[in-house]
Amino acid sequence: MILALTLEKLIESVEDMPSLPQVVTEIIRISEDPNSTPQDVQKLLAQDQVLTAKILRLANSSFYGFARRINTITEATILLGFQTIRSIVFAASVGNFLTKSLGGYQLDQNELWKHSQAVAMTSRYIARQKRFKNPEIFYTAGIIHDIGKLVLNQYLQEDYQKVLSLIYDEGYDFLKAEETVLGFNHAQTGMKLAEKWNLPPEMVEAIGCHHSPEEAKINPTLSSVLHISDSIALMMGFGLGIGGLAYNFSDFALQTTGIDGQQIENILPAVTDLMVDKSSFEIF
Ligand SMILES: [Fe+2]
Ligand SMILES: [Fe+2]
Repeated sequence: MILALTLEKLIESVEDMPSLPQVVTEIIRISEDPNSTPQDVQKLLAQDQVLTAKILRLANSSFYGFARRINTITEATILLGFQTIRSIVFAASVGNFLTKSLGGYQLDQNELWKHSQAVAMTSRYIARQKRFKNPEIFYTAGIIHDIGKLVLNQYLQEDYQKVLSLIYDEGYDFLKAEETVLGFNHAQTGMKLAEKWNLPPEMVEAIGCHHSPEEAKINPTLSSVLHISDSIALMMGFGLGIGGLAYNFSDFALQTTGIDGQQIENILPAVTDLMVDKSSFEIF
């Protein structure tokens, strides 16, 4: 409880704390209203040409697999569906927060964004392969799973040497080093931010449990897939930084998702293929 209070204070005290973009709140509302039409999405985005261009670039990337060109938001919504357009809008607007460099994590500009996009794409791929319900929530959770790093970065920068020495001299894993130096880790911090954004409880939980999927109660599958995709993205070299020093696959996550070593070997080349198209990454 004390931890929760302190974390909340921390979240409140951060000056440039990102707030959930209005367009995301709106797209969630539209996609949940059964009376919505593709024109409602078009209307929502009509004011923002920059965002529209990013959305169309993503919609036309090979990740979505459309052979012919999608030229308008209405067309994208018809062809891809409300749930998918919602995740694309989410990625194109929230993803913007993830592009700045995070010195405390040794992440260069765009690196956290690329890592998050890789985790999101891998998560959705796994959810589809395994026929898990609502694959789009796997994608969206992947986009924001490390959002806590944005908050902790400024504090970490000050105590950076301490964290490094805990990792290299004391053999701490990265999460434990964060907890020791800052009082909490980036997963707990991201969870608080997601709560503040009123994201669905299963998404809030998955952000909090992406390094400890065995603690998930609402949707252990979502946390487990995020955890596995995180490790896969790091293996592929997406967003190592200091947080990526020690990646592993939790037994709980493997059991929960029914994924074994052989399947991970199959997932790797499949998602590598999805990531070849730069349109999925170079939108900012
Ligand atoms: Fe993480
Ligand atoms: Fe991550």
